[in-house]
Amino acid sequence: MHKENSFLLNDWHPIAAVAETVVGKQYSTRVLGKEIRYTLTNDHLIARTEDSDLPLLLTKITYGLLWVSLSENPRDVPDIPEFKEHDRRVISAGAIRIATSGLRVVENFLDMAHFPFVHTDILGAEPLTEVTAYDVEIHEEVDEVHAVNCRFTQPKGSAAASEPVDMQYVYRIARPFIAILYKTCVVDPNRLDVLGLFIQPVDEESCIAHTIMCYLDDVNTDKQLRDFQQRIFGQDLMILLNQVPKGLPLDPKYETPVRADALSSAYRRWIKARNVTFGTAR
Ligand SMILES: [Fe+2]
Repeated sequence: MHKENSFLLNDWHPIAAVAETVVGKQYSTRVLGKEIRYTLTNDHLIARTEDSDLPLLLTKITYGLLWVSLSENPRDVPDIPEFKEHDRRVISAGAIRIATSGLRVVENFLDMAHFPFVHTDILGAEPLTEVTAYDVEIHEEVDEVHAVNCRFTQPKGSAAASEPVDMQYVYRIARPFIAILYKTCVVDPNRLDVLGLFIQPVDEESCIAHTIMCYLDDVNTDKQLRDFQQRIFGQDLMILLNQVPKGLPLDPKYETPVRADALSSAYRRWIKARNVTFGTAR
């Protein structure tokens, strides 16, 4: 049995995109309610909690992000091998501060049912509103939840799509605050684009969403890819800011027995079984 929130404490958390951090500048931010000061040097990241008597925090730079851990012995970050493929472009879509639990943001990212209503004429369109059956898999060896065989007909499924695409999706819930989406790549049908949602849990009811694209796209500029992603995210913000309570409810009585929600239910159960309470409704 996990001690309450030890699953989050013994882990890494993103604090900024490398591309948006000025070398030598001092920054402060929060992770899991703790104030953190950090500076990026030419080759590494130096970070400490506000209580400067404590030793420096462990840090890491990977997937286009700066990471810290509040533990001296965290497990490694999730393995995302596509980031090592040299023909992919790794682009930050920015850091978006949201006044709700990061768990809510991840759950919304996993939900296909809202595409036609919230991302109308981009990720979905009426009358094609049905989420077809997909499979939820628990991968115990890496302790992840995956949803496979997801598909959705999308009018403009990516910045590179010039016509409607029957998008295939795989969702990977790698951590309570990290979800990775693999989707049809319109440039190369044999490979998948990768979109990582890396949430920085600031406090229980506030977070910063760091979105990193790892795409095969030789059509769009970085700015075009970023603008596409930020437009989608802006539409999601409207929903996220209206969700009550801000914490994610884990009590099964709040689950709806709708097929489209199978992944959301699996996510909530998985969080609960790991004794994560930070960012949940209690
Ligand atoms: Fe959305």
